[in-house]
Amino acid sequence: MLKVGLVGIGAMGRGHYDNYIRLMDEGFPVKLAAICDIDPGRLKGKGPGGIIDTGIVPIDADRFTCYTDYDTMLAAEKLDYVDIVLPTYLHAPASVKALDKGFHVLCEKPMARSTDECRMMIEASQRNNRKLMIGQCLRFWPEYEYLKACVEDGRYGKVMSGYFFRGGGTPKWSYENWLLNKAKSGGCLLDQHIHDVDTINWLFGMPEAVSTLGRVVVPGSGYDAVSTNYRYPDGKVINAQDDWTLNGEFGFTMQYRVNFEAGNLHYGSNGLKVYPNEGAAFVPELSKNQGYYYEIRYFINAVMNDTSIVTAAPESTMNTIRIAEAEELSADRRGEIVLL
Ligand SMILES: NC(=O)c1ccc[n+]([C@@H]2O[C@H](COP(=O)([O-])OP(=O)(O)OC[C@H]3O[C@@H](n4cnc5c(N)ncnc54)[C@H](O)[C@@H]3O)[C@@H](O)[C@H]2O)c1
Repeated sequence: MLKVGLVGIGAMGRGHYDNYIRLMDEGFPVKLAAICDIDPGRLKGKGPGGIIDTGIVPIDADRFTCYTDYDTMLAAEKLDYVDIVLPTYLHAPASVKALDKGFHVLCEKPMARSTDECRMMIEASQRNNRKLMIGQCLRFWPEYEYLKACVEDGRYGKVMSGYFFRGGGTPKWSYENWLLNKAKSGGCLLDQHIHDVDTINWLFGMPEAVSTLGRVVVPGSGYDAVSTNYRYPDGKVINAQDDWTLNGEFGFTMQYRVNFEAGNLHYGSNGLKVYPNEGAAFVPELSKNQGYYYEIRYFINAVMNDTSIVTAAPESTMNTIRIAEAEELSADRRGEIVLL
């Protein structure tokens, strides 16, 4: 039975919490032992919700040891791993502390605020021989796993082009408004668009160059709307866009359209549909679970069985941050091509 400490019970932390309750109810060998948040109200389930559909399970503080100080939790608890769902600027310091204490670490995306910080996290994982995984959840999301399988096994031939999009309203709920502080979050580019950057890196590897246009809408928040072209040696046409200023009743959406030599895949609000060039279009049968559930299960299995983190290897998720940094530089230079 693995003992877990969960830190950060905000919008996303509630999502992790709900998944631990589900996994424990399902008899998975995991025990959420401690929860920690600097805001005591959060430990009682108070506070605004976020983009995640949270609040399925009310927080039952009596079931866990509750902490408002992370260092105290690390000192007091004998944990197998720490699940870090803190604001991005805390990912590296919080991960390094836990790894140096001898705990494995599952940390939310983006890996860290900079590539240098990612490197510090990987070094801490290596020197302590502890596992580190970043919750780049689309690598575990059924509709994205299906796309990955099509790319890998070539059932529709090679990828000719692809378009990826995420977008929604401006996030105004976060702790001390960290999400709209460029130094703390990296803006929409590093916080939200990073999912598509990571998907593109996971599917196709490092691009040889990027060109990005970005627009600041909320002063001080970094790029709130971005569009990037990714250059690959084989000439595939890849673009990803994000915009977190789609306010009003728009809601949140994530989409992709990937065109292969012999068919194309489209994923959006109505689900995933496959359009082979020959024959009828079809809707593949996929699990309705979100990637968060599988991502946490994957990490638990890796710790329990002492297997390597392959699906979201930290070196790969660090490369995602490298690409995002190149995109930011390109946007700063109004779309200039930046080589990787
Ligand atoms: N994978 C996804 O789809 C997804 C979606 C949303 C957010 N996230 C990521 O999850 C992380 C958290 O984002 P969020 O939206 O939940 O933010 P949030 O502001 O809603 O939650 C952060 C929580 O951390 C707590 N906190 C802040 N400083 C702390 C400290 N020093 N010690 C203990 N607790 C502290 C806050 O009180 C708050 O409850 C970010 O890295 C974000 O990028 C991932």
